[in-house]
Amino acid sequence: MAKRPFVAGNWKMHGTRAELGQVTHVSIETETIPEVLVALCVPATLITRAVSASPGFLIGAQDVHHEAKGAFTGSVSVKMVKDAGAKLTIVGHSERREMLGETDAQVRAKAELAIDEGLKTILCVGESDKVRETGQALNVVAQQLEASLPDRVTAPIHLSIAYEPIWAIGTGKVPSTGDIGAMHGRIRQVLEQRYGDGAASIRILYGGSVKGSNAKEIFAIDGVDGALVGGASLEADDFMPIVHAAAAGVKA
Ligand code: PGA
Repeated sequence: MAKRPFVAGNWKMHGTRAELGQVTHVSIETETIPEVLVALCVPATLITRAVSASPGFLIGAQDVHHEAKGAFTGSVSVKMVKDAGAKLTIVGHSERREMLGETDAQVRAKAELAIDEGLKTILCVGESDKVRETGQALNVVAQQLEASLPDRVTAPIHLSIAYEPIWAIGTGKVPSTGDIGAMHGRIRQVLEQRYGDGAASIRILYGGSVKGSNAKEIFAIDGVDGALVGGASLEADDFMPIVHAAAAGVKA
């Protein structure tokens, strides 16, 4: 991997105080692995506690609202997660796009707000199984990305794209290495068209059933700069082998 790899965990709607030990475990072990940037995106309710439990470690949110503030009962803004101690947020996860009807325009607004506030931002894109079967995955994901990307990115280093095929999330299915490589290449093209030289520092992560057992193969794919990990990020003993595989990829 040409860039310092980035491995981020997404706890989704899992985790209470009882699980904070997992954050501490990951943060302590990653201190000895400077080759890899590591983060855990915990539920909003745990951000402050996770930050206190692991000073210096990158704690993220899983979503932010697309407006800066207002009458949006139950929602959490960029400023709020930042105030809680998050240095990162995911935007546009397919579970929000699919189940909550979030649009490309909203994802783009979220990314703009988050990056303007100095949060690292992981912007997710990915195709459904139906789209993959029609052979249109590259075009559909490129269109989704074009519509979801901010026009201008003040600090491209803060932006990562996560390619997460919907059919690979939580299913144990993973695209072929050739398909992942082709998609990451296409995403890189879109980024270069949009940001020119600024695109060079943007990482492209792969997400969808990444585990300790397949991480090495995934990180060896040209154009993969890290991973967004769901299920295997809940337990440090499942997550750390993925981080170690990323570190081994740097040394290889
Ligand atoms: P998974 O989830 O690793 O459990 O497939 C990935 C994600 O949704 O980010």
